[in-house]
Amino acid sequence: MENKKICSVILAAGLGKRMHSSLPKVLHRILGKPMICYTADCLSEISDIEKTVIVISRLTETVKDFIKKDSVEFAYQEKPLGTADALKSALSVIKDSYDLILVVTGDTPLIKSKTLENVVDFHLQNENALTVVTFNASVPGAYGRILRINNEISRIVELSDTSNEVKKITEVNSGFYVISASVLPLIENIRRNEKNGEFYLTDIVELSIKEGFKTEALKAADEKEFWGINSRQELLAAQRVLQKDIAEYLLNNGVTIMDPDSVFISPDVTIGKDTFIYPNVVLEGNTNIGSNCTIYPGTRLIDVVLEDDVVIKDSTLIEDSKILTGSAIGPFAHIRPGSTIGPKGKIGNFVEVKNSTIGYNSKASHLTYIGDSELGKDINVGAGTITCNYDGIKKHKTVIKDGVFVGSGTQLVAPVTINKNAVIAAGSTITKDVPEDALAVARAKQQHIDNWTLRKQPAKKE
Ligand code: UD1
Ligand code: CA
Repeated sequence: MENKKICSVILAAGLGKRMHSSLPKVLHRILGKPMICYTADCLSEISDIEKTVIVISRLTETVKDFIKKDSVEFAYQEKPLGTADALKSALSVIKDSYDLILVVTGDTPLIKSKTLENVVDFHLQNENALTVVTFNASVPGAYGRILRINNEISRIVELSDTSNEVKKITEVNSGFYVISASVLPLIENIRRNEKNGEFYLTDIVELSIKEGFKTEALKAADEKEFWGINSRQELLAAQRVLQKDIAEYLLNNGVTIMDPDSVFISPDVTIGKDTFIYPNVVLEGNTNIGSNCTIYPGTRLIDVVLEDDVVIKDSTLIEDSKILTGSAIGPFAHIRPGSTIGPKGKIGNFVEVKNSTIGYNSKASHLTYIGDSELGKDINVGAGTITCNYDGIKKHKTVIKDGVFVGSGTQLVAPVTINKNAVIAAGSTITKDVPEDALAVARAKQQHIDNWTLRKQPAKKE
């Protein structure tokens, strides 16, 4: 890219009325990842781009919470006055001068960085002042239409401003532009559209040509990459494309996916060889899965690390946690944020774990709650055990050292420590630390009232 200083701008201030949603359009998710993050990640893969400015509005301010990158700055568009006005808002926060501005829309999640690099290269190689990316749309719908004279682009017309004849044109505007610094001042000359009072960035094409700047349309080969998502139907269509691409990639890299149409795998997920994924599995966020794992149906993993040889049985939810080599989780388990289990750990049916470490070869197989706890190795937690971590005001810690056996139906009232190799009798309510190797019994003594049934129910006497 010949050492040009490049800045990119993402237009994302529109609320997206056609979504019929109170959530800003660009925060609607595809495979669990907000649309705007696709665009921002794509731009950050292009090393020649020094800075990215995302244009937001007061109504779409929450976009900020989803983008944490040093190279990204935000600009506010005060009123939704159109794409040209949005770009103007971006320019007002750009302090340095750049040779080129790459303008992209925030509702184009299928775009790939390689394609954008080619667009910038095309602009530079042809010594263009303005490049507009266009494509032949199989359904031209509401896209702006490209008008050409003698095969050269002459202007872009929006659907609302055009005749039925022009509507038949299938070459459309992608909303992606490369604009050289020399052309930028022309934004000031864009006039309000009479119909809806907006300033259209598309008008820059005609103005640039009029001023004698070299202006070209680059027709993209793959229309999908430039699909603009305006409705939930279009969001779904984009998701299907991505879902298929991701499944194909994984299948080609040693992962078995039993039913690619029913699994949803976010693009940032990695999966190792010989891992087997059953139907109806959802993998989101920064989830990294090792080799030779099995994930059974109905499971959702968000920001999870699974090391190798891990089995996740049916209907399990795991969030922001690590499952180490050879562990088995589920069925019907809930592992909440901040937990680490294994190696060779076992968490079984109806067990909830939160913010806890469960060490090597330790097990909690049935109906248990483990919260804010630290468990060593070779521990057996019996059915129905509860760490009482909350006193109504504060959370407290439970520590269970190596080799402990916790009998069924135990309550561990935190803060409490169970020392090495201790045994806790079933049904105990433990409120004091238990010494090493001790048996702790903390339950009411069993009593018998003889002949009680016979006295209460004389009929049974015979
Ligand atoms: C726009 C183009 C159209 C093109 C299509 C490609 C204009 C006038 N039209 O239409 O030619 O075919 O994109 O997808 O440019 N935005 C703002 N502020 C605003 C208005 C929009 O930041 O005041 C942002 C939106 O958040 C969105 C992008 O700009 O990310 C495009 O806006 P949108 O309303 O989706 O434009 P289209 O009607 O799709
Ligand atoms: Ca759009």
